[in-house]
Amino acid sequence: MFYIKRGNVPNKRHTQFKKENGKLYFEEHISREGFSSIYSNVYHEKMPTEILSVGNFNQFNITESFGKHKNRHFFTKKLNLSGDCVNARQPLLYNDDIIIYKLHANKDMDYAYRNSHFDELFYIQSGNGCFKSNFGHINIKTGDYLVIPRGVIWKMDLDTDLSCLLLESSAPIETPNRYRNKFGQLMEHSPFCERDIAVPDLDPIELSQNVHLKVRLKKGIQEYILKNSPFDIIGWDGCYYPWKLNINDFEPITGSIHQPPPVHQTFQSAGFVVCSFVSRMFDYHPESIPAPYPHSNVDSDEVIFYSMGDFMSRNGVEEQSISFHPAGIPHGPHPGRYEGSIGKKRTEELAVMVDTFKPLKVASGLKEIEDEKYSLSWLT
Ligand SMILES: [Fe+2]
Repeated sequence: MFYIKRGNVPNKRHTQFKKENGKLYFEEHISREGFSSIYSNVYHEKMPTEILSVGNFNQFNITESFGKHKNRHFFTKKLNLSGDCVNARQPLLYNDDIIIYKLHANKDMDYAYRNSHFDELFYIQSGNGCFKSNFGHINIKTGDYLVIPRGVIWKMDLDTDLSCLLLESSAPIETPNRYRNKFGQLMEHSPFCERDIAVPDLDPIELSQNVHLKVRLKKGIQEYILKNSPFDIIGWDGCYYPWKLNINDFEPITGSIHQPPPVHQTFQSAGFVVCSFVSRMFDYHPESIPAPYPHSNVDSDEVIFYSMGDFMSRNGVEEQSISFHPAGIPHGPHPGRYEGSIGKKRTEELAVMVDTFKPLKVASGLKEIEDEKYSLSWLT
């Protein structure tokens, strides 16, 4: 990430920073990898460490559905979910590196939330809202990827209902290494650059007290009451903060013959990659076959969320469908889609792919939304 500054900060870090009344602001240093990676320094009106009470610990367990190994298809639009951006989530697929959820939120959060053990990536399928955090706010809209590093304290206010694909990651979610130069800047061949990335705008200091905070841990959520609002920030600077990128600002890379999925890569993490399939011109070699070849990506499980349009290689998928193709068997275009793509000039589609490097487990509770015929749908 790149350096930014918001609001007022002292000229030198870790020095006296005084209010008009002569009293001190309180500096909080927020860093990754034990003071050895990216960091920001934020400046509080009041001491951020005062805890009034330690509340309940609410356990959170995902249970596995022990089904057969097969290609799967879920109609996630059918999920009947209600609540705010934390409690209206349905886990779908997971392993030690990632939990993939669908989220249908229809309520504002009346508490602050801090994910302590996972970085988060929201893909906003539809809806508008305001993400408010201890770094300021980011207005979100359809097509946004919102990256929330662990430790950011936030809440979400909705303008409309939100439908999202949501990832919790055990490792940071970053822009791909190969798109960055040795100074971290996104290079000329990257499908997006810093200008496409939106960062928080700082809000006026919030001085409320007795603030309810929920801290997400691996096994559940710990509740706290803080004496002071974590949003009492006068300024901050650094390279650690939440940010967003709209999928429609991802400029597709095309070629004369079929380009492999890595050209669509948008994010990297230790255990998975995220790719964006956006509307684009098809391959232009006179003998090209625009649809993908059948493939066995032997080290990955593949998840595709079909966001909008007509996905070029699949029959029977709807908006908000999710396909899951585990390693162990090949997959590819549906009957007719391979040959049928020849001569086509472009595709109008929007899809998000998550390829994991460890096998995924299927969460329980998805029977109602599963397409039971999917695994045999390649038969001619
Ligand atoms: Fe694939």
